Amino acid sequence: MKKLVGGNWKMNCSSDTFKNTFNIINKIPENVEIFIAIPYVFIEYAKNNFNKNIKIGAQDVSEFESGAKTGEISANMLVNTGFEYVLVGHSERRTLLFETDDIINIKLKNSLINKLKPVLCIGEPIKERKSGNYKEYLNEQLINCIKNITDATFDIAYEPIWAIGSGEAASVSEIEEIISIIRKIMNLNKIDGRIIYGGSVSESNINDLVKIKGCDGFLVGNSSLNSEFQTIVKKLAE
Ligand code: PGA
Repeated sequence: MKKLVGGNWKMNCSSDTFKNTFNIINKIPENVEIFIAIPYVFIEYAKNNFNKNIKIGAQDVSEFESGAKTGEISANMLVNTGFEYVLVGHSERRTLLFETDDIINIKLKNSLINKLKPVLCIGEPIKERKSGNYKEYLNEQLINCIKNITDATFDIAYEPIWAIGSGEAASVSEIEEIISIIRKIMNLNKIDGRIIYGGSVSESNINDLVKIKGCDGFLVGNSSLNSEFQTIVKKLAE
């Protein structure tokens, strides 16, 4: 299976961002798959400007399938308009928009049913990390999010909340510890897929982060908005 690098543009996107991404077009290595999670409204722009080797991702999907749900966008709509990947359960949605594990579980199921490729995001707050309770916290979070899902294929991103946007990524050993917990739970539930890391991945720490055992790629926020993204992809491909 190819390694995976996702760019998460969040609510940051300009024509410059598209130009930067356009520049990596001819340098996509064979062994790396790339998606960019764009704001929905840029779908046509992305389809016209991204190289076909860059997959288009959404940053969220509705828990609802259709009907009178003003403002919502369903998994089916995403697939039909050209989205291939979707982030599910990003911590910013959990904390700022009060998404619960139950809602995330529904979003995950909807994505799978509609053949959208979800990347399930999990991660612990600083409080749990400091109290030493983080393993139990992550274990429970993951089990809740994948409730009643078995024999499935999708990717999981470990993104400690304290590392996101902080400039301080988790250490290699901290990430390896959680990856092995995630892999065990995936195996128990017959879930196949890649495990990636996210949280302040940048060109300054990528040399260390590529050494993480069991890590199949990265989810990149800030550094996906500029040419650092290219360095990250290149390092992963080596
Ligand atoms: P960051 O964001 O790389 O800016 O820390 C990662 C993410 O939120 O997915």
